[in-house]
Parts: sequence; structure tokens; C-alpha cells
Amino acid sequence: MRLQGRTAIITGAGSGIGRASAKLFAEEGARLALVDRDAPGLEETLSLVGEATTHVGDVGEAAFAETVVGDVVARHGRLDILMTAAGFSCGGTVLTTSLDDWDVVFRANVGGTWLWARAAVPQMQRQNSGSIITLASQLAIAGGKGNSAYIAAKGAIVSLTRTMAVDFATDGIRVNAIAPGAIDTPMLRRSFARHANSEQVREASRNRHAMKRFGQAEEVAQTALHLASDASSFTTGTVMVVDGGWLAA
Ligand SMILES: NC(=O)c1ccc[n+]([C@@H]2O[C@H](COP(=O)([O-])OP(=O)(O)OC[C@H]3O[C@@H](n4cnc5c(N)ncnc54)[C@H](O)[C@@H]3O)[C@@H](O)[C@H]2O)c1
Repeated sequence: MRLQGRTAIITGAGSGIGRASAKLFAEEGARLALVDRDAPGLEETLSLVGEATTHVGDVGEAAFAETVVGDVVARHGRLDILMTAAGFSCGGTVLTTSLDDWDVVFRANVGGTWLWARAAVPQMQRQNSGSIITLASQLAIAGGKGNSAYIAAKGAIVSLTRTMAVDFATDGIRVNAIAPGAIDTPMLRRSFARHANSEQVREASRNRHAMKRFGQAEEVAQTALHLASDASSFTTGTVMVVDGGWLAA
């Protein structure tokens, strides 16, 4: 068991990649704190992982991050892994994105990374160990059409990941991002549904991958497990691309 005795917080655990990671981390022996604003989603994940604490709230709220980290440390005495998988996309160019949408997207994605890392790092410094796993996107590297706030937010997450990796490298804390391609989750399905010709957009997206298929949340979870475990002990400041060959094609 690669995470035996480790304590992990996973945000966005009520669906998709966060849920699949929660399931895999639990199978590998981790003690979990599951975070999401979607209470029924969290309950469903809890039923898959067996035992965990659940925390319902908005990851963009600083006090929520501090409370959850405090609870985990009080309960388990340590925090080994933080995975910030909560994310949100609304679509739109810079001309068609409202200021409200821009704020919501940055709050969930960038705030949901920065605030949780800020809450977690002091405990990881005290332990002199920890792994922080952030969620970027292949679009942060390649660019993409009609999704400006989301892609800008994912670019910010890549930069934040690298700077945190450097700032805390000698504190025993590793910080890495995962950049998935299109993964078949509710978020991806919602993004296709925004288009009038959604089936066409879906097929074009599928075929844009060299492997001519979408990824599965479980395939991203395997990379998260690698980054969470000692198998990646000399890996920090990286962006691990899990994209079925999207960027290469
Ligand atoms: N699915 C993809 O194709 C894809 C590709 C690249 C990156 N990603 C990233 O992977 C991560 C997980 O995405 P997913 O595909 O599993 O999406 P998903 O929609 O299935 O799951 C995301 C979860 O985050 C939660 N969430 C969103 N905003 C929140 C907030 N402000 N506070 C609390 N919870 C919030 C949602 O309730 C949901 O349960 C996201 O950061 C996403 O941007 C996904």
C-alpha cells in the first residue's frame, strides 16, 4: 500500500478526477478528508471510499481552507498530501466573459489552489514533508478556443505550482501539477453541452488526442498517486501531462 498511514485532503472530491483519486488513495491506505461544495456528490464518494471526513463548502473561501486543515491536523496529527482538484469552467472569449464569471473561475481554480496550499504548508513545514498536487490542464500549455478565463486560471496554477515548489523545496515539500487532456467527467460533458453543435465539438475534441479517445478520471488518479507517494520523491515543480498525446499531436 503506497499511502499507508498518510493523511490526504482532496478538494473537488465530489465528482470526476477528485472522486477517482479519493477512491485510489483509500485503496492505497490513505486517511482522507474530502472537500466539495456538492454535498450529495461527497456522500456518493464517501460510499465508495468507506471511511473519510467530508467537508462541504466553497474552496475559494480562506476560512474554509483553514478550518479543514485545522480539523485534519487535530484529528490525525499530520497532513501529508493536498490535492486541489476542485475546478470550474464557464467558457467564453475575453469579449464574452463577464467580470462575474471571470471572478468565479479564478476563485475556484486559482483561489482553490492558493488558499489551500497556504493553509497546508505550515503543517507540512513542521513535519518537513508533504506533497501538494494541483490541477492544471493541457490547455494551459497549448491554448484553446473560447475558454479564456479557465485557460488563464490554469496557466496561473502552473506558475503558482512552480513558484511554490521552489519556495518550499528545502522544507521537504514537493509541489507538482497534473495537466490532463479531455477527461470524461461531468465537467467535460457540461463544456460540450454549451455548444449548439455539441456532438461535433465532442468528436473534434476526441479526435484531437493522438490516442483518439478521452481519458478516464482513473487514469489521472494514477498520476496523482505517483505524485502523492514516495515513488516521486525527486519530483517537484513539474507539470505532468496526462493527455493521450494531445500536446504531441
Ligand atoms: N475533465 C477534464 O477534461 C479536465 C481537463 C483538464 C483539467 N481538468 C481539471 O481537473 C479538475 C477536476 O475536474 P473534473 O473533470 O473532475 O470536474 P468535475 O466537475 O467532475 O469535478 C469538479 C468538482 O469540483 C467541485 N467544485 C467546483 N468549484 C468548487 C468550489 N468553488 N468549491 C468547492 N467545490 C467546487 C464541483 O462541485 C465538482 O464536484 C478541475 O480542476 C478541472 O479544471 C479537468
